[in-house]
Amino acid sequence: MTLDAKIISALRSADSGISGADLCRQLGVSRTAIWARIEALRELGYDIAANPHTGYRLLASPDRLLAADLQARLGKTQVIGRDIRVLDQVTSTNDVIEQMAAENANEGLVVFAESQTKGRGRLGRRWSSPSGKGLWFSILLRPNLHPMEITQLTAATATALTRAIANETGLHARIKWPNDLLLDGKKAAGILTELQAELDRVHHVIIGIGIDVQQAPSDFPAELQKSATSLKIALGRPVNRPSLATAILRELDRDYARILDRQFKELAEEWEAICGTLGQHVSIEVGTRTLRGRAEALDPNGALLLRTDHGRLEPVTGGDVLILKN
Ligand code: BTN
Repeated sequence: MTLDAKIISALRSADSGISGADLCRQLGVSRTAIWARIEALRELGYDIAANPHTGYRLLASPDRLLAADLQARLGKTQVIGRDIRVLDQVTSTNDVIEQMAAENANEGLVVFAESQTKGRGRLGRRWSSPSGKGLWFSILLRPNLHPMEITQLTAATATALTRAIANETGLHARIKWPNDLLLDGKKAAGILTELQAELDRVHHVIIGIGIDVQQAPSDFPAELQKSATSLKIALGRPVNRPSLATAILRELDRDYARILDRQFKELAEEWEAICGTLGQHVSIEVGTRTLRGRAEALDPNGALLLRTDHGRLEPVTGGDVLILKN
């Protein structure tokens, strides 16, 4: 942990304040060093009161992503978030992770960006990522799973996101297979899972997550205004991004451990309970093929089981889904 992260963490766990002397003792640095970092944190928007009797007290923190703050909030995790980086502007956080993976970055690395100039969604679509409005981030994983099982990770990510959003905001998102989160029927988040693998061996997986958090309707490009929403629109008030980001990483870390522990069945059941696509008569475009049938369940690999109109049960790992009127 950096000194900033340690200071923020100490301030967070001392609701009634902590003296400069105690901070020095706890963190093993000089009073001048503490004072300089407190000033720097104030510059970044942290409201830190200093009182000769009660010491330093954290009154408010900014809606800004700072690696030290995220690390301090998250504490120790098993894998996800052991290393967190926050960048200002990138092409795509998936690109940044890809590059770092090629340089042997460790599993669990998370890269956030305040904005992306070439944010991308599934099927080569563009992902609008305006500065400070959302959570745009990617995670590097090196799981010991078969390439066929990687769909489990997308399903687990959607479930973890839904849980974290509910805990932080009280909003109950529904999953639209394979990787969209909907609020009031509009898209509020998406997941882009990218894979480097051989036929039977995974090198690494990049989970890219985009969540529309603080946008007003007019912040969305015109073509998305009918179909997209943000947590702020759905809730009627802004949502603290660092707090949501940490809640997500914590849930993801837990679910990743469950997957590696071969407990996907439990996660699949949770996924099924919050997926609005199940039970529906759908058409799914997979490349040039169109499949029609009823969406029944998730199979053990995380693929959607479609009971086709011809009565066959077909596992589908990805595609564009449209709900048909019966
Ligand atoms: C989709 O719904 O099609 C997936 C959207 C995924 C967007 C996120 S934002 C962070 C990461 N970087 C990207 O370029 N894309 C993902």
